[in-house]
Amino acid sequence: MIKNIALFVSGTGSNAKKIIAYFQANEQVHCPLLVASKSTAPAIEMAHSYGLETWVLNRKSFYESEDLLAQLEKYDIDLIVLAGFLWLIPPYLIEAYPNAIINIHPALLPKYGGKGMYGKHVHRAVKAAGDRESGITIHYVNEHYDEGNIIFQASCALLPEDSPEEIAAKVLQLEHQYFAPTIERLLLPGE
Ligand code: GAR
Repeated sequence: MIKNIALFVSGTGSNAKKIIAYFQANEQVHCPLLVASKSTAPAIEMAHSYGLETWVLNRKSFYESEDLLAQLEKYDIDLIVLAGFLWLIPPYLIEAYPNAIINIHPALLPKYGGKGMYGKHVHRAVKAAGDRESGITIHYVNEHYDEGNIIFQASCALLPEDSPEEIAAKVLQLEHQYFAPTIERLLLPGE
């Protein structure tokens, strides 16, 4: 049976792009829909270039109506993948997709998680702490930022002289390497 992914993004969408490209070669996993929290997100154009439909969220309706659910049902979505999506997921969505919403975080949770900890803020905090490693965490999403059960982690060594930008580049490389295969294992266990 075909499994359908909805990709949720807020910005560039380099992870979303890797995931879309990865599953082009897989007939059992489709990416029909990209949901963006900003109409100016560069990921929207990227998604159109791969033939995905896109849906731009309005903050008020995301939290106060359930319009999005109709979109997700229309595309028969099995898994919601947050790939650089920065809004907290509302309870109605978590209830509608139990254990079927996952996020990628650019650090080794439980370190450097929570509200306001995203992108460059995470890498600056890692640098300020003088950590000798960072990494990625792929986890289930619950109603709190970065607190759901961990599915997968990978780490990278840091040098004392690494800048936050260099830490970000090392971490992004791990994201691009591991996110899509981890999704594949979740959707198609045992294959
Ligand atoms: C990724 O590094 C992802 O881990 C991070 O946003 C970036 C999106 O990059 N997410 C968070 O910080 C969530 N707390 P992309 O748009 O190029 O995929």
